[in-house]
Amino acid sequence: MMSNNSNQGSKTQQVEAMFNDIAPKYDFLNHFLSLGIDKIWRRKVIRKIIAEKPSDVLDIATGTADLAIVLAKKLLDVKITGVDLAENMLEVGRKKVESLNLSNRITLKQGDSLSLPFADESFDSAMVAFGVRNFENPVAGMAETHRVLRPNGKYYILEFSMPRRFPMAQLYRFYFWAILPLIGRMVSGHKKAYTYLPESVSAFPDGLNFVRLMEEAGFTSCKYQKLSFGIATIYVGEKIKVTPNA
Ligand SMILES: C[S@@+](CC[C@H](N)C(=O)[O-])C[C@H]1O[C@@H](n2cnc3c(N)ncnc32)[C@H](O)[C@@H]1O
Repeated sequence: MMSNNSNQGSKTQQVEAMFNDIAPKYDFLNHFLSLGIDKIWRRKVIRKIIAEKPSDVLDIATGTADLAIVLAKKLLDVKITGVDLAENMLEVGRKKVESLNLSNRITLKQGDSLSLPFADESFDSAMVAFGVRNFENPVAGMAETHRVLRPNGKYYILEFSMPRRFPMAQLYRFYFWAILPLIGRMVSGHKKAYTYLPESVSAFPDGLNFVRLMEEAGFTSCKYQKLSFGIATIYVGEKIKVTPNA
């Protein structure tokens, strides 16, 4: 589905169309298919960010703004800017933000993470949940985030990974390839979106292989922490302050 076939458009165009299509059902399916565990993962990421006390945070591929909302609730003077390709996802997010009276602290903008509409060094921290895997070019996308981070700023990435140990690896594969696409298709009415999920996760590097991509994008001191037997992983990388030679 996500080939660069010109009949179907670029991967970016296909991803945008797919998330625009599934936007009304996205939040429900997200929490239902993960049995609510995604909320625990998001809170873990946010706990790490809070420790740094940032003032301006960028939420890349913000979707329906779940990560931005958790951060805004926990850190009361933070300003968050969320960027996403899919206008329909942002529309769901804007309604949630408004109903929570967070519009003065969360701004949602349509845009591509590969060419962000922000000046260099605009944000203290950046975060992304389940976004980087969907980029046309993940290294270029992360390098673009690196550009808009201030020196010493950190990038927090939550992404799916594949558990490798028996019996979780086998059980999860069965769920991921057989059960999840079936329920996803039935509820969202979208034929491909929930087949794309296991396909894209299985094809995407995780652990140290993903850390190498972060380093290629310019991040240093990269660390990762596996969650829930390796079903998801949090990665953190830093933009070092370059001190001119004396
Ligand atoms: C799986 S959803 C994750 C949404 C949200 N971060 C969350 O945790 O629920 C992936 C999101 O990434 C967005 N996306 C994918 N590629 C993008 C890009 N190049 N620039 C901006 N957003 C992108 C999609 O539109 C979609 O909303």
